[in-house]
Amino acid sequence: MIYIVGLGAGDESQLTLGVVAKLKSGLPLFLRTAEHPMINFLEKNEIEYRAFDDVYMKHETFEAVYEEIIETIKEEAKKGDLIYATPGHPCVAEYAVKRLVAETEAVIIGGQSFLDPMFAALAIDPIEGLQVMDALDFDYEAIAPKQHLIVPQVFDQLTASNLKLDLMEVYDDEYEVCIVKAAGSNIAELKWVKLYELDHNFKLDNLTTIYVPPMK
Ligand SMILES: C[S@@+](CC[C@H](N)C(=O)[O-])C[C@H]1O[C@@H](n2cnc3c(N)ncnc32)[C@H](O)[C@@H]1O
Repeated sequence: MIYIVGLGAGDESQLTLGVVAKLKSGLPLFLRTAEHPMINFLEKNEIEYRAFDDVYMKHETFEAVYEEIIETIKEEAKKGDLIYATPGHPCVAEYAVKRLVAETEAVIIGGQSFLDPMFAALAIDPIEGLQVMDALDFDYEAIAPKQHLIVPQVFDQLTASNLKLDLMEVYDDEYEVCIVKAAGSNIAELKWVKLYELDHNFKLDNLTTIYVPPMK
């Protein structure tokens, strides 16, 4: 059996009891990435793991990376039960999980997505209407401007630049958007900027998400 667990978005206080029990079960543990604040919990509890960060370095495209992760997990699962852990919740923006669920007998065991601390940090309620659209697969024609818009995967200046141009098709250049970094952790940061400034040399990383408030 492949147990797919989510490690939450911030520190270990976000781990669910079910996830902690699985992590401490002694089953082989595979991490999509070790670049995650929860790594301290694993080190502290002497839980061994194999992370796939080296696979990201090996390939030019995300598709190739995910293919290798999926194939490795499937091969390892032939030897016995194992755990595949992702940041946040496994069902939010985790391509390899979608494939593993479709192609194997995988079981999902919770985790808090980055969306939860985003709601808290921005004081927004998704019931008012929320869109989440990947920066790497963005379609401005699909924007519903009266809804909250959350755009993950803004890793670098080029992605921010492309996103800015797309957003300018719908919003005014001076529209205020928020750069949210590491929500839910002790290094969380919110920076409100005008849309035209979005690619103006802010440090962006793999914990950066853009928030666009609803148009009045
Ligand atoms: C591939 S998605 C994985 C999301 C993860 N499965 C989850 O549920 O949190 C990674 C993207 O989520 C966003 N993200 C993850 N953690 C974050 C955090 N603490 N604060 C803001 N954005 C975050 C970033 O945009 C990042 O590029």
